[in-house]
Amino acid sequence: MKRSRIKTILSEGKIGGKVTLCGWVRTKRESKGIAFIALNDGSMQDTLQLVVSEGTSAFQKISNCNTGAAIKATGVLKDSPAQGQRFEVEVLDIEVYGDADPVKYPLQKKGHTLEFLREIGHLRPRTNTFGAVFRVRNILADAVHNFFQERGFIWIHTPIITASDCEGAGDLFTVTTLDLKNVPRNEGGDIDFSQDFFGKRAYLTVSGQLEAEFLGMSLGNVYAFGPTFRAENSNTTRHLSEFWMIEPEMAFADLRDDMELAEDFFRSLCSRVLEKCEPEIAFLEKYYKNTSAADLRELASKRFSHITYTEAVKELERAKQKFEFPVKLGLDLQSEHERYLTDTVFHGPVIVTDYPADIKAFYMRLNDDGKTVAAMDVLVPKIGEIIGGSQREERLDVLNDRMSRMGIPTENIEWYLDLRRYGSAPHAGFGLGFERLVQYITGMHNIRDVIPCPRAPQTIKF
Ligand code: 4AD
Ligand code: MG
Repeated sequence: MKRSRIKTILSEGKIGGKVTLCGWVRTKRESKGIAFIALNDGSMQDTLQLVVSEGTSAFQKISNCNTGAAIKATGVLKDSPAQGQRFEVEVLDIEVYGDADPVKYPLQKKGHTLEFLREIGHLRPRTNTFGAVFRVRNILADAVHNFFQERGFIWIHTPIITASDCEGAGDLFTVTTLDLKNVPRNEGGDIDFSQDFFGKRAYLTVSGQLEAEFLGMSLGNVYAFGPTFRAENSNTTRHLSEFWMIEPEMAFADLRDDMELAEDFFRSLCSRVLEKCEPEIAFLEKYYKNTSAADLRELASKRFSHITYTEAVKELERAKQKFEFPVKLGLDLQSEHERYLTDTVFHGPVIVTDYPADIKAFYMRLNDDGKTVAAMDVLVPKIGEIIGGSQREERLDVLNDRMSRMGIPTENIEWYLDLRRYGSAPHAGFGLGFERLVQYITGMHNIRDVIPCPRAPQTIKF
């Protein structure tokens, strides 16, 4: 079907030109024998006004056409006398593909709460809010590839089904084809996964890092960008059970290189949104007040603050404010602590480095003090952790020692140890949670509102 998108019409259209456009009716009103339809086709935030005169066949065809209907209109592009729009379309012909019941269609003109819209996830992309969020998400995804491709990083595809637990945290979804009514057991009474599809227990990946490491340790600089899964029972505004992660991995790189990459990356993403999503950010600023072009401009040019974990704990101990969770050297930072650092101490993004080895994953490189690891978390205001990364332990003996101390079996990841046996070298990488990024940039309060089909404990619809 030959049609023009509204975005193209508004940027390239010429007065007097004939256009065909398809979309969904946002509103229809009639005045003095003329019908006005505000049409949205998803290509941009704005609607385009269709003007249909009484007495035309088009006018009759839309007599029963309501908010939500899908239509095709052909007409001539005119200067619009109405305020705030450059063009309108004088309609010559119209086709109604599918009407929407004016009583049952849930997206009538009035505003809806985000909670209500979550219940109708299949219709919410037709609202201004979700149109804006998903267009920003698209630009960000494109900007991710742009950033890495321009720097010669190779896009790799790490597996979704895996046999290893990258984070060693046990938050894994098992993938099985065993008959759940009749699960085979071994002599000890445990489930016998040798009879399962892959001949051993398999999971949905929590991170592509381990595989990204062997690709990085051969191709030099790589990045993964794919879905990851976590079975943590976290019902918060920042956690999803299925989310997308961007994971660069660089050979011959240390923690300093890693932090530099993370900062450059983040700034470049902000710049790209400023350049490409001006109307979307303006809309989100107006209605939700949690983002703005001015904020993004500042982020795009600002350097991150840096602090070590040990210094951060001292800073928290000095705080006048009371925290719900204890602050003590050796304990992990809770989100209230992270927010104190970003919102009260640094007023912007901060990178916390050199966490105690005991609270971080097995693969992080042990520092010379023998107690902390070369880890970094990037924290941003309101959200907290948005990036987690580290220099990887490249010394076989140190890694083996750490894994055995943490009780991590090596049998499934001998291949990972091989990278330390053959041509090992310093290397580093990080993971950026894509939805947390979209959440931060759009200012949406709940992470469930930046992904089309959010998955969370007790929540799987669509
Ligand atoms: O800090 P995490 O667990 O790091 C890793 O998985 C490393 N293997 C990454 C690497 O070095 N290649 O997760 C990385 C990021 C977090 O900073 C956060 O932004 C996001 O992933 N994330 C989540 N986002 C939404 N919902 C969840 N449940 C998330 N868990 C982590
Ligand atoms: Mg983390």
